Amino acid sequence: MTPTWEADERIVDAAATETGPEAELEVTLRPQLLRDYKGQTRVKENLEVLIQAALQREEPLDHMLLSGPPGLGKTTLATVVANELGVTIRQTAGPAIERSGDLAAVLSNLEAGDVLFIDEIHRLSRAVEEVLYSAMEDFTLDIIIGKGPAARSITLDLKPFTLIGATTRTALLSGPLRDRFGIHFRLDYYCPEELQEIVQRSAAILEVVIDDQAAAEIARRSRGTPRLANRLLKRVRDYAQVRHGGVINEDVAAEALSFFEVDSLGLDWMDVKILSTLTQTFAGRPVGLTTLANATGEEADTLEDVYEPYLLQLGLLARTPKGRVATARAYQHLNIPVPAQLASDAQLPLDIP
Ligand SMILES: Nc1ncnc2c1ncn2[C@@H]1O[C@H](COP(=O)(O)OP(=O)(O)OP(=O)(O)O)[C@@H](O)[C@H]1O
Ligand SMILES: [Mg+2]
Repeated sequence: MTPTWEADERIVDAAATETGPEAELEVTLRPQLLRDYKGQTRVKENLEVLIQAALQREEPLDHMLLSGPPGLGKTTLATVVANELGVTIRQTAGPAIERSGDLAAVLSNLEAGDVLFIDEIHRLSRAVEEVLYSAMEDFTLDIIIGKGPAARSITLDLKPFTLIGATTRTALLSGPLRDRFGIHFRLDYYCPEELQEIVQRSAAILEVVIDDQAAAEIARRSRGTPRLANRLLKRVRDYAQVRHGGVINEDVAAEALSFFEVDSLGLDWMDVKILSTLTQTFAGRPVGLTTLANATGEEADTLEDVYEPYLLQLGLLARTPKGRVATARAYQHLNIPVPAQLASDAQLPLDIP
C-alpha cells in the first residue's frame, strides 16, 4: 500500500497537493463533461445555454471568471467547458507568468476558439495584467518594441479565444480585470447529497465497493468540498483494507474517519482547538484575531483564510465587532453546557452546509 498520509499533514486542508499520488488521482477522478459534474446546478444550467449559443453562432464563449474556495471544482469546470465546446485548453497560472512577453507568447499561440485557463489569476502582476486588457477586449496585443525614444508600439491581431480565470480571492482582483469578464460564476460549497454522489462516482472509478450509508458518512465529513470527499474516500479505503478486510459500511467509514481525526462535522483537531480556546480558555468572551492566533499557535492570516470560513459556514463561530465568539452550536458540538446568554440560540438544528 502506498502511504498517502503523513501525521503532521492536515487531512482536511482543502488546498491541492501539487505533486504525488493525490495530484495524479485528481486527474483520474476529474469529470470531463457537464453531465458528470455534480452539484452547482444553477451554474450548470447557465453554462448549458451559454455553450449552446456559442456553438450555434460559431463564436468563442465569453470570457469567464470562476471564483470560490479551494477544491470546489474551478479547474475541473474549466476543463469541462473546453470539452463541451470541443476546443483545446491551455493551462497556466498567475505566478507562472512573470513577464508580459511570456503572456504575449501564450496568447499569440492560441488557435481560434481555444480556452486559455489562468489559475490564481489574482496573482498576475500589474504589467502582465495590462497585456490582457486589449487581448480580452478586442483580441489584439499591443507590444512595445525597442527602448527609450526609439520605442514604438505595434498592434498584433490574435485569434478569438476564451479566457477562463480562476481565483480563490475575488477581492484581490483589480476592477479593470474583473470588468472584462462577461461571465462570473461563484462556486458554492456542496450539500451532503451532492458530495455523496461524488463519493459514489469516485468509488466506482477506483473500483471500491461502498454502500450508500458509508458514502453518506464520508460526504457529511467532507466540509462541502469535492476534493476532500475524494481524499477521505481514499483514507477510508486504506483503513478498511487494513482493519476490516476491505469492507466499507457506515460503521467502518465512521471508525476510519475518527481514526484520522476527522469528526462528525468534518472538523479536525485544529478546528476543535480553536473552538475550545474560545469556549474554555476565554470562557466565551470575544477574542481578537491576534490573541486567538497566539493562543492556538497558528498565524492570524491562516486562521482567517483557512480555518474560519468553514467554522463560520457551519455557524460554530461568529465574528462580532468585539472579536470572535463561539456560538451555542459550538458548545453543543463540544458537549459542554451552553452559557445562559447563548441558550436562546441553542435549539437550532445542527446542519452541514
Ligand atoms: N462538481 C464536481 N463533480 C465531481 N467531482 C468534482 C467536482 N468538482 C470537483 N471535483 C473533484 O474535486 C477535485 C478538485 O477539484 P478542482 O481541482 O477543480 O478544484 P479547484 O476549485 O480548482 O481547487 P483550487 O482552488 O485548489 O485550484 C477534482 O479533481 C475532481 O475530482
Ligand atoms: Mg484549481
